[in-house]
Amino acid sequence: MMSDANDPLFQSYRLGSLELPNRLIMSPLTRSRATQPGDVPSMMNAEYYRQRAGVGLIISEATQVSPQGKGYAFTPGIHSDAQVDGWRLVTDAVHEAGGHIHLQLWHVGRISRPELQPNGDTPVAPSPIRPIGAKTFISAESGMVDILEPRALEAAEIPGVVEQFRHGAKNARRAGFDGVEIHAANGYLIDQFLRSGSNQRSDEFGGSVENRLRLPLMIVDAVIEVWGADRVGIRLSPTGSFNDMKDHDPLATYGEFAKRLNERGIAYVEVVEDSFQGNHADGRPEDIIDAIRAGYKGTYIANGGYDAEQARRRLAEGRCDLVSFGRPMISNPDLVERLRGDAPLNEWDANTFYGGDEHGYTDYPTLTDQARMRSRA
Ligand code: PHB
Repeated sequence: MMSDANDPLFQSYRLGSLELPNRLIMSPLTRSRATQPGDVPSMMNAEYYRQRAGVGLIISEATQVSPQGKGYAFTPGIHSDAQVDGWRLVTDAVHEAGGHIHLQLWHVGRISRPELQPNGDTPVAPSPIRPIGAKTFISAESGMVDILEPRALEAAEIPGVVEQFRHGAKNARRAGFDGVEIHAANGYLIDQFLRSGSNQRSDEFGGSVENRLRLPLMIVDAVIEVWGADRVGIRLSPTGSFNDMKDHDPLATYGEFAKRLNERGIAYVEVVEDSFQGNHADGRPEDIIDAIRAGYKGTYIANGGYDAEQARRRLAEGRCDLVSFGRPMISNPDLVERLRGDAPLNEWDANTFYGGDEHGYTDYPTLTDQARMRSRA
């Protein structure tokens, strides 16, 4: 076993104005357990995050900034007062346990359904392009249903979208978060504007890289106005194909975006270095990682199918500053202690990722729980 002093995972790190005790981050994870009316977080959600507060930073599950930004049943929001009160349960629990937590600000764009939208409206997107094969679920009973063709946002509606993010960012402050992460990945609204496969606009919000970056940067600037740059991160998925995403030149798109983010001095970029859920077509996209790191000099959080050994290696090689873990965090509330001791990890149960109750959510055992069970047997 490595001592903490020699272990790249257990070096402390200054992230903006936060002092992190280790390099482990909990990545944003949709769990679809905001089952109270009004998409309001509960004590059950607070307990889940509290159990995982030993990481350097928790990034919350994706959280809609507005009713229009909602795309799945049972995902939480940050647009109403009741949601702010619900999130306060979460931030208090994490802080009492000594942890840090950012809220992930989310607008799904076209990945929604009229059944989930105010007044049964058609979901909005940069362009009226249906994502082939993309699905969501609209109720506990519905199962997965297809995404339909969205409506293109009018240019005059764009400032309103920026205001949705500003409102979410302000509410995240009221709810006691340590900062926010802007969700610009995985085929949701910001990503739909960034990448050429989903953005075929001919106005100032589409076409050239500069135009495709315009709305994303307007949102970044609005959120910085609320939080200060050192409390703002962003999640990117330059090679992700989830939700039928593609870009004809990701090196150009993300290289330029990285430079613009660097000018603004945000706290970090978190990069999904695979397609989604650990699917590596061809290893990690080293050329795109290089382009992002050449443009953006701040903190780089690597994400996507990492295990402890890979994380240690990439940290030691200077390929990243922090590593975020998703599925291992679901099944190991004490992942930090397990990695410190090279202890075996609990397997995750994919059947309980989305929706349901405490089972598969707050009932994964810690090492201490398991030792107690063994001594009873
Ligand atoms: C999902 O609910 O499936 C989901 C949400 C946010 C992501 C990815 C997947 O970034």
